[in-house]
Order: sequence, then C-alpha cells, then structure tokens
Amino acid sequence: MSETQFIDAYRDGFVAHLKARTLMKDPQNLYAPIQYILGLGGKRLRPILTLMTTELFGGKAEDAMDAALAVEMFHNFSLVHDDIMDDAPLRRGKVTVHEKWDMNTGILSGDAMLILSYQFFESYPAEMYKELTSLFSKTAIEVCEGQQYDVDFETRDDVAIPEYLKMIEYKTSVLVAAAMKIGAIVAAAPKKEAEAIYEFGRNLGIAFQLQDDYLDAFGDPETFGKQVGGDIRENKKTFLYLKALEKATKQDRESLLHLYSIKPEDSTAKVEAVKAIFMESDAVGETKEAISAFTQKAFDELEKIDLRKESKALLKKFGEGLMQRTV
Ligand code: IPE
Ligand code: IPE
Ligand code: MG
Ligand code: MG
Ligand code: MG
Repeated sequence: MSETQFIDAYRDGFVAHLKARTLMKDPQNLYAPIQYILGLGGKRLRPILTLMTTELFGGKAEDAMDAALAVEMFHNFSLVHDDIMDDAPLRRGKVTVHEKWDMNTGILSGDAMLILSYQFFESYPAEMYKELTSLFSKTAIEVCEGQQYDVDFETRDDVAIPEYLKMIEYKTSVLVAAAMKIGAIVAAAPKKEAEAIYEFGRNLGIAFQLQDDYLDAFGDPETFGKQVGGDIRENKKTFLYLKALEKATKQDRESLLHLYSIKPEDSTAKVEAVKAIFMESDAVGETKEAISAFTQKAFDELEKIDLRKESKALLKKFGEGLMQRTV
C-alpha cells in the first residue's frame, strides 16, 4: 500500500468505529447536534494519528479505536464551543451548531461531548486508563488556557510573537501531540519514545495552526468550509497580523492598527484591506516560512526515535500533506 492508501484506510476504519459507537438517542436536542457535527466529517487528523502511532509502536489499531474516538470527540466538542466564542457561521461547509439550533444547545451538547470523550477511555485496563486520562486532562486544561489567551488577545494591541506561539501551542498543538502520545500509550511504547512522538506532534501542531491562520485569510471560500476572513473580522492576533505589524510601512502599520480596533457590521472592506497589507508586507511569506520551519522541526524530532524507515516515511508524508492542505 502507498502512504496515502494507508492514511485512507485508517480514516475509513475510524469512521466505521465512530458510527457504531455514537448512536442517536433522546433527548433529540442534546444528541442531534452531536450526530450533526460528528457527521460533517472533517479531516479526522487526530484519530488517524492515534491509530497510526499505535501501529508504529507495534500495537494494533483496533485496540486504539476507543482512544482515537475520545480524541475526536473532544476535538468536536472544542469546535462547537469555539464557534460560539468566535461567532462563526460556518463549519465544514455547513452552518454551525449554535446557528442551526441556538447558543444553549451548542453549550450543552458540547458539554456532553466532553463527557462522552472521557467515557471512551473506560474500555482500557485500570493502569492504562489512569495514564490516558491523566494526559488527556492535562491536555484539555491547556486547550482551555490557549482558548482564553486567544480571546484575551482580541482586545490587546501589544501581543508578541512568543505569546502567540504559546497560545497556539496550547489551543491546538497539545491535542495533536497528545493524540500521538495516546497511541504510544496504547501500544505500551517506552516512555522515552512516547515523549519523542509527543514532541513531533507538538511541532507539527504548531505548523498546523499557522497553516490554519493562513487559510482563514487566504483559503478558497468554495472549499475551505469556514468563513474566510473570520479571524480578521474578530481581530484575532494571528501570525499574519503580528508579522505584518513588524514588517509593514509606517502608514500600513497605522491602517492595520486602526482596522483591528473596529468591528464593522459589514466587514468586507476591512477584510480586503487587511489582506492587502498581509500581502504587501510579506507577512504571507513569513508565515509560509514559519510553517516549513515547524514542520522541519517536527521531522528532526523523528530522527531521535527508533522507528522503521517506512514508519518515518509515513509520518513525513502525513506532515507534508498537512502543509499543502487547502481545508
Ligand atoms: C480545526 O481543526 C481547529 C483547529 C485547531 C485549527 P481541523 O482543521 O482539524 O478541523 P476538522 O476536524 O478537519 O474539521
Ligand atoms: C481553534 O482555533 C482551536 C480550538 C478549537 C481549540 P481556531 O478558532 O483558529 O479554529 P477554527 O479556525 O475555528 O477551526
Ligand atoms: Mg474558530
Ligand atoms: Mg478560535
Ligand atoms: Mg482558525
């Protein structure tokens, strides 16, 4: 099988498991939104990484299915609440849960998904359960911290790049890293190897969020699945924005600061003006370089792990695919 076929097989196996393990029940208004968001698909990046990591360390993907489901369920919970916080109308090409139902439905079905995610770990033996949930809780609280920084930064105009990097590490990359370490735990991999794969995932996750920031501004509205320009509308302090402030002419810098101090009802002109400054200042080039640099850092981490050449090639293929993605 080619690397792409391997990845597709993991995705298909995971989706079949997800369908079998998440059934519709009453009350409808609690479970229908859960079915809805999980059924909209998405890339299934994190559960694929869990399954793949288990197999790379000699375990069986089958044994990692519930752990992978926990990770994907948590991710979907975080998206439902994130879309409320970001006032986002679109997710995976469809209307967001809080807009299709209402805010309270989004809050409660999100809460239920968070709890369900923990329940999926109950399939594991006591010792492993403890290790899995302890990592999961540490990760989950970091995601909350990252999300709070993200919101706090909306109204600050002095965010520095290291603060931004910490924010995206917490809101996004620790879950990617944990998805992989969870796979290593299920395979009972040595601690040192589990740590190393976490570091790979952490760097890959940072590259992944940088790419997410880039696509939020420059993605194709036909295929991206989220509202293009949403981060600009919400005055999100992305890498593009921070680099543009650093590199733009004095005049553009002032315009950018002004544009990021307002929230017009119709944001079309604002989004276009901000994107022009992102391009003009070469914040776009800087962002692309940072994406490559963090992906390369992830690949360097791989060299420290004792894995078969084919296994490393598979992880690299996956990482490269993420860098080139359009959704
Ligand atoms: C979106 O994650 C949230 C971020 C952390 C950027 P994904 O881009 O993995 O979303 P789906 O699951 O594929 O829709
Ligand atoms: C989301 O970051 C991180 C979490 C959901 C925890 P974003 O707000 O950038 O994610 P998208 O772009 O809405 O998917
Ligand atoms: Mg968002
Ligand atoms: Mg957000
Ligand atoms: Mg985003």
